[in-house]
Parts: sequence; structure tokens; C-alpha cells
Amino acid sequence: MLRVGIAGFGFMGRMHFRHWKMVPEVKVVAICDANPNIEEDTKKAVGNIQGAEGQIDLTGIELFRDLDAMIAKAKPDVISLTLPTYLHAEYSEKALSQGVHVLCEKPMALTVKDCDRMIQAARKSGKILQIGHCVRFWPEYAKAKEIVDSGRYGKVVAAMFQRLGAPPGWSVDNWFLDESRSGGVALDLHIHDTDYVQYLFGMPRGVCSHGAKTPDGHLIHIVTTYDYGEDRVIIAEGGWGMTGTFGFEMSFNLVLEKATLVYDLTRTPMFRVCPAVGEAFTPPVGDGDGYLREIEHFAKVVRGQPVKDVLTLEQSRDSVRIVEAEKKSVTRQKKIMIQ
Ligand SMILES: NC(=O)c1ccc[n+]([C@@H]2O[C@H](COP(=O)([O-])OP(=O)(O)OC[C@H]3O[C@@H](n4cnc5c(N)ncnc54)[C@H](O)[C@@H]3O)[C@@H](O)[C@H]2O)c1
Repeated sequence: MLRVGIAGFGFMGRMHFRHWKMVPEVKVVAICDANPNIEEDTKKAVGNIQGAEGQIDLTGIELFRDLDAMIAKAKPDVISLTLPTYLHAEYSEKALSQGVHVLCEKPMALTVKDCDRMIQAARKSGKILQIGHCVRFWPEYAKAKEIVDSGRYGKVVAAMFQRLGAPPGWSVDNWFLDESRSGGVALDLHIHDTDYVQYLFGMPRGVCSHGAKTPDGHLIHIVTTYDYGEDRVIIAEGGWGMTGTFGFEMSFNLVLEKATLVYDLTRTPMFRVCPAVGEAFTPPVGDGDGYLREIEHFAKVVRGQPVKDVLTLEQSRDSVRIVEAEKKSVTRQKKIMIQ
């Protein structure tokens, strides 16, 4: 039985909690959150992703206000680290150094330097650290990667990714809207697609980004062209300046030589392979969502079971590195080379 602790019981802590409950041979034993009203607040919790709503039964789960106390008393084997981004590096180090495996939410940390600290801490402890890049595990995105890698429809000549929503307004003190604590829209939201672009195509040579800013100078929308050479165009767009009534949308169009792959939450069917020859079809994809699949992957790695090669800590760090270059490109209004 894997003993699980959850550090940070806000929107994503509750998401991890629900998904851990679906994994066999696992028991969520403890939760820590600095909020003294966590039990009451959990009852009226909201977020922007389906699956996070509804009542949560905390019977039999020990509640703590602080991570060290939770580790000392509840002795979890693993924790989901679902704390605000500015705490990822410090709290991952704390848990790893006390012998606990860590599944840390994306983005890995606010800076490449902090990501490197986390990689060192994981190496030193000999424990597993995995970053929650759930899009790599999202069934349709995983299938698209499989199709692209198979070479069946030729090379990718163009790809467009989009992720759009209203500003995240659910955090206790609005830390999301403080760029020094969340990294802003580029590091918090758009990194999902940056990381997936890296997953599909490796490191880009450079990035050219444009952004829209609020009157007080905060980036709220970003569009990036990733440089993978002259013969293809790869673009991702992320924004959280949409109105509340818009909701949340994520989508991609992957243009291969002999097929177009389309995914869009708002279409029916959501996912289609449109080949040059024959009818469009929806290929079968894996069960569950990206959160469940990343948690199952992590549990297998911790148990020493075989898994597919999906992500490394260096790649998670490099996604932060690419986003840093994207933000620099917006500010300097020019292309930024990475390699
Ligand atoms: N993978 C995804 O799709 C996805 C979606 C949303 C957020 N995230 C990421 O998940 C992380 C958490 O985001 P969230 O939406 O859950 O935020 P949140 O504000 O809803 O929750 C954070 C929780 O941490 C608690 N907390 C703060 N400081 C603490 C401390 N020192 N000790 C213990 N508890 C503390 C807060 O009280 C709060 O309950 C962020 O890094 C965010 O970028 C990922």
C-alpha cells in the first residue's frame, strides 16, 4: 500500500486527491495546508477544470498545517506537491531530503536555477521527483504523439496549439495574478503547450513571441513561433484574458504531409484524424484523463515497475527555459535564440 500525502489542498490538491483515490493499492493518509479553514473551504471549492468540483470526504485523513509535521507524523511514502509555484523548489527539497518521493505540479519552478536545485535534490536523495506535465499524458495528446512518431502520415509541416481561459481567480490571496509568485500566464498556463511542443519536436533553436499586456504591464496573452527550421511552422498561443463566460478551451491542429490531426474540446467529435486518403476517424485513446495517467505513471516509477519513457526532469526544466526565452522575446520584441 502506497501512503500518499498531499501538500497544498487548493484546486489542484483536490484534483490529485480525487485521482489518487482511483489508483489501486494507494491510501491518501494526510493533507497539509496552511489554510486553517481547509475543511470548510473544501466544501465550497471551485476551479476551471472539470472534475475538480463536488464534495470531498476527508474522514480518516490526518490534517496538518505544515509539510514537515505531516512528513514526521503521517510518514507518507509519496506526496503530491500541489502548492503555489513559488514554493515548488523549497518544498520539493524539504520532502526529498526526508526520503519522500514527490509528484510536483507544473511548472517545475519559477526559474531554471530553481529547477536545477530540484534536480540536484532528487539525485542526492535517490527518491523520485516527477513534474506534473499532464498534457504529455492527456489521452488525445499522447495519441497524437504516437501517430507523429510512427511516421505513418509523414512529417509535421505545421502545428498550432491553443489554451485559453479566464484569469484564475480561485486562489486564496490571488497569487496566480502576481507574476513574481506564479510566473504569469506564460509560465503557468502556456507552458503546457510549450512543454508539449518540446515533447513532439525537441528543443527549438529559438523563439519569437508576441504578447498582450494589462494596463499595469502584466502579460495576459502570448503567441509564440518556435524555430524548428525553415520547412515547418510551429505556433502556440496561451491567454487568460478571456471573459468568465468564455470558460476554458484547449486545442491543436497538427498538419502532417498525409493527414491532419485535430483536437478541440468544443467540437464533436473532439479528436479526429483526417487522412489524405479515406474518411476522417477518431482513433481509440487511453482511458482516464491526463491527471490520472500521470499519477499512475508516477506510482509505477515509485514501485519500480516498467513505464514508457514520457518525461525527464531535464525536459521539465527545459520547458521553463523555453518559457523564459519566450517572455524575453515579448519584452525585447525580437527573436531569442536558445541553442
Ligand atoms: N496541471 C494543471 O492542469 C494545473 C492546473 C492548475 C494549477 N496547476 C498548478 O498547481 C499548483 C497549485 O495550484 P492551485 O490552483 O491548486 O492553487 P490554489 O491556490 O488553489 O492552492 C494552493 C494551496 O496551497 C496552500 N498553501 C499555500 N502556502 C502553503 C504552505 N506554505 N504550506 C501549506 N499549504 C500552503 C493554500 O492554502 C492553498 O490551499 C500551481 O503550481 C499551479 O501552477 C496545475
